[in-house]
Amino acid sequence: MNSSLSADSFGLDASKLPRHIAIIMDGNGRWAEKRLMNRIKGHEAGSEAVRTTVRTCREIGIPVLTLYAFSTENWQRPKIEISALMTLLKKFLDSEQKEMMDNDIRLNAIGQIEKLPAKVRNALTKTKDLTANNKGMILNLALSYGGRTEIVDMVKIISRMAKDGKVDPGLITEEFVVNYLYTAGMPDPDLIIRTSGEMRISNFLLWQIAYSEIFITDTLWPDFSREELIQIILDFQNRERRFGNVY
Ligand code: FPP
Repeated sequence: MNSSLSADSFGLDASKLPRHIAIIMDGNGRWAEKRLMNRIKGHEAGSEAVRTTVRTCREIGIPVLTLYAFSTENWQRPKIEISALMTLLKKFLDSEQKEMMDNDIRLNAIGQIEKLPAKVRNALTKTKDLTANNKGMILNLALSYGGRTEIVDMVKIISRMAKDGKVDPGLITEEFVVNYLYTAGMPDPDLIIRTSGEMRISNFLLWQIAYSEIFITDTLWPDFSREELIQIILDFQNRERRFGNVY
């Protein structure tokens, strides 16, 4: 990575950068099918797009990048595809550790991590520990993630606290409950991107995207480039965000 790059070098306004970009990476299967290839080849090509996107966000100066890499619904896919995705995830974590250390990137994972195979959990723990003190950017992988499950998990924690007399239900606020979401401590996404043209949220960050700007591109995830990401951020910088107010 070229550490001398910054938002300005990409023609972006450094004072109006999204603090958090979240991406629904869709279209790996269609990318492969169009080329008469196995779907797994599409996921492999998708991993390359992940590398490019992480690098670009770091160079621009985006503080948090969340990637929807595996949803709770994805467990219903054929075993062979799940297994290939898990192998790709492990490979990604192992091969990117040096890049994360060199570029001050901290890895985090959100979702029901305990459901992942041991080889992925171990690689996650190792990479999270190794990068724990990095401050340049958080790379947040949503794995075995579902937005509704996240909210149910939050309700379970808070109701247990209420039962034990540790919180007064009358005093529960939005500011309080966010501390019990998987994303506690992170800003909400300012920008959510979905590739491959589908107009759906697919159970992604349901609480956190209340005021996010949404950008849907027809590009299939493996074709998602650095140039397109920069164009989308430029578009974001030109939008007027009102948060329900009038200006
Ligand atoms: C959606 O494409 C993509 C996924 C279900 C998984 C995303 C995984 C990767 C990009 C690769 C591995 C991840 C990392 C972080 C290295 P799809 O299969 O639903 O495509 P389709 O809708 O065209 O069938």
